[in-house]
Amino acid sequence: MSPPESAAAVETRDKAHVAATYARTPFHPRRGRGARLEDADGKTYWDLLAGIAVNALGYRHPRLVRALRDEAAGVWHVSNLYYHPAQGMLAERLTKASGLSRVFFCNSGTEANEAALKFARLKNPGRPEVVALEESFHGRTFGALSVTGHAPYRAPFVPLVPGARFVPPNDAPALRAAVSERTSVILLEPVLGEGGVVPLSAEFLRAARELADATGATLVFDEVQCGLGRTGTLFAFEASGVRPDAVTLAKPLGGGLPLGAVLLGPSFDGAIAPGQHGSTFGGNPIACRLGLALLDEIEEAGLLERVRRLGEWFGGRLERLRRKTPPIVAIRGRGLMWGIELDREAAPVARRLLDAGFVVGTARSTVLRLLPPYIVPRAALSAFLEELERILKEERPA
Ligand SMILES: Cc1ncc(COP(=O)(O)O)c(C=O)c1O
Repeated sequence: MSPPESAAAVETRDKAHVAATYARTPFHPRRGRGARLEDADGKTYWDLLAGIAVNALGYRHPRLVRALRDEAAGVWHVSNLYYHPAQGMLAERLTKASGLSRVFFCNSGTEANEAALKFARLKNPGRPEVVALEESFHGRTFGALSVTGHAPYRAPFVPLVPGARFVPPNDAPALRAAVSERTSVILLEPVLGEGGVVPLSAEFLRAARELADATGATLVFDEVQCGLGRTGTLFAFEASGVRPDAVTLAKPLGGGLPLGAVLLGPSFDGAIAPGQHGSTFGGNPIACRLGLALLDEIEEAGLLERVRRLGEWFGGRLERLRRKTPPIVAIRGRGLMWGIELDREAAPVARRLLDAGFVVGTARSTVLRLLPPYIVPRAALSAFLEELERILKEERPA
């Protein structure tokens, strides 16, 4: 537990000593249970962001707490020089569920994408290009950043890794024009997250599959944000029926601890040799145990069905709200991943929602982004809808 200290003191020390990479909101969550958060002053909130899609089971889920306690009695780290059962067990579960065949474990989403880009090079050497989407987000390390479509993230860091080409989401003719025998990877988020919650159509994903097959390019789906149940199927790609050659995962995978993964299909068999890639911490035993507990809970508690049903209901209610609320321009999403596009800056609205007891995110500048835990009560979403309506009625465009 953190020592009792005023919010102001925490902020002052943070501002003096922590690198200035984040524009933090002055919000101090200290305790949580289920989908509820409590701040340093004891005020409670509905958490509709889940630590940006990490806390899929909310806070202090008994199954995760048990897994953590059990594994804490074992060795916390063995390195990847040696065997530990949890990695293989989680890999087995993920491959069975996805229909892919092997897993590389790392610690984060950006590392998962780095690994996928490197493995595609090994599988099909010499191809210089990666085709990705405008406004996509794949991470902050140089490789993943180079193929991230959101230009302001890339701009300060040029020169980047060469060879990235960007096409608009859901534009199959543009994709056809960009993919060729020079393409190493076609990299797609089945639902763009940071890009404003934009689901890719099944038709677009099918076109990508066909192009990958025709040119020998590797089709990689980045499911770091939309994967592991968030859209109502364990993998977001399941809804389209299109199977990629590889899938990258992170955020909820470690039950709140850092864990990333690349799931590889059989076309990678024999392509990767010992020593060509690796990670000191990747596939940590405790994080993998939590990952297994997360998958157990999703399965045994019927959470996919819950996310689907709740998502259908919530999507309908959001649409209704849009029709009677002019500041809402569009609603996009699936399951428990929703973007509410406004005719104004989203950050001040998010701030008012926070003051009213709802933690929400934003994406691009005009989209409110909701990524609640899979256990979020329907009543929390209803209360959010009422509050949003109230705020938007009062708000004046900036
Ligand atoms: C789709 C997607 N890919 C990759 C990343 C990068 O993940 P990380 O921050 O764990 O490196 C994110 C993070 O938001 C993401 O949403």
